[in-house]
Amino acid sequence: MLNNFKILTITHKNVPLKALSQFIVPSVDEAELEGKLNILKTQFEIEELMYLATCNRVMYFFYTDQNISDTFVTKFLAQANIDFQPNLIEYYENAITLLEGHDALEHLLEVAASIDSMVIGEREILRQLRTAFEQCNGWNLTDDHIRMAMQLSVETAKKVYSNTRIGEKPISVVSLAIQKLLQSQFPKTGKLLLIGAGQTNLLVTKFLKKHQFENVTVFNRTIGKAKSLAGMVGGTAFSLEKLNTYQDGFDGIIICTGSDTALLNDELYAQLLQGDDTKKLIIDLAIPNNVEKSVVENFNVNYIEIENLKSLAKENMAFRQNEISKAKEIIVERLIEFNKIHQQRQIEKAMRHVPQQIKAVKAHAMNEVFKKDLENLDEDALEVLERVMNYMEKRCISIPMKAAKDSV
Ligand SMILES: NC(=O)c1ccc[n+]([C@@H]2O[C@H](COP(=O)([O-])OP(=O)(O)OC[C@H]3O[C@@H](n4cnc5c(N)ncnc54)[C@H](OP(=O)(O)O)[C@@H]3O)[C@@H](O)[C@H]2O)c1
Repeated sequence: MLNNFKILTITHKNVPLKALSQFIVPSVDEAELEGKLNILKTQFEIEELMYLATCNRVMYFFYTDQNISDTFVTKFLAQANIDFQPNLIEYYENAITLLEGHDALEHLLEVAASIDSMVIGEREILRQLRTAFEQCNGWNLTDDHIRMAMQLSVETAKKVYSNTRIGEKPISVVSLAIQKLLQSQFPKTGKLLLIGAGQTNLLVTKFLKKHQFENVTVFNRTIGKAKSLAGMVGGTAFSLEKLNTYQDGFDGIIICTGSDTALLNDELYAQLLQGDDTKKLIIDLAIPNNVEKSVVENFNVNYIEIENLKSLAKENMAFRQNEISKAKEIIVERLIEFNKIHQQRQIEKAMRHVPQQIKAVKAHAMNEVFKKDLENLDEDALEVLERVMNYMEKRCISIPMKAAKDSV
């Protein structure tokens, strides 16, 4: 029965992230997605279907006794996404992975435990997986088999996260930058200048909000974006050109723009200091750096730059990778248990009707076959017979159930 679990997947490991879009089910809203997935399930006669699309992977999880041939895969992907041309199947031949039975379940568990992710140990995937299941379950695409596999994957992922150190030590440069900020004992009321309001500083701002930094001033070329970030932390916004005349002082700077030349030079930095000679913290997340080297050499600064954070991220990634073997041990154990649990469940389902059938046999015997014989019995004899029949009924139900369970 485990052989009926099948996964068709394309992941970051085998294709550039941009190429993943060719394998998704395009939809403008949930209703359209539900409709398209239901058509796929019906048209390809799949007993149960679950669909997951993230920035790391597209995964179709099936429960079906069908043989998934190359023709099935080509037709399925072409039906899923109209932009998927049949010739792409050859181009992506080595990237499209089909897994069956134990291998499919093992992959599901590795995805849930985040050891197959681009960012190993990132728990977001577990949330995405659960959401995908709840959605597909709500749309009647899944049933008991995928429900059981999902329960197993969630429990296993939790066990991996709590029994290994796979999720420890940050590996994004932004979270490492915030860790440095916190480690530097920078006061929550300290005045922070945030220069740039792109995606990176948006993430920085989310962390600043989370850690309750309350004195943030944002500068950006486009004032609207500066306002939006400042609004998230109750801060003030200015357009970037106002930086040259800013006179309100600061305690730290986080700078990250797409400028290909340094924005913060000696002259501007001296101007921002307004005569303050205490040590300042500067976090420069831009590539190339947005702070001129001379600022670091000539002023009293604790300078944290992206290259150092990137090498720290690499070390932390290596640390997490070392935890993968421990996570795999947990997955192997859980898969062995699941094999038994799944078989038992199938037996329970197959034997669900046994009690009713035995009750019906008893009723038929008493009310039809032996009706006349029973009419000749006195009350005491009838009562004894009734007790014997009830006893036999219970045994007839429990003996085959136990035998079937013991055979697993
Ligand atoms: N994305 C990442 O994962 C990541 C991680 C670490 C570091 N970085 C580095 O961070 C920098 C910005 O990345 P991002 O993802 O935040 O980019 P982004 O979302 O494209 O934002 C770019 C930001 O830089 C500003 N900008 C662009 N060119 C400028 C110029 N010539 N002068 C002044 N401001 C300018 C933009 O201002 P407007 O709003 O006015 O356009 C915007 O605030 C890059 O150096 C990148 O290498 C990125």
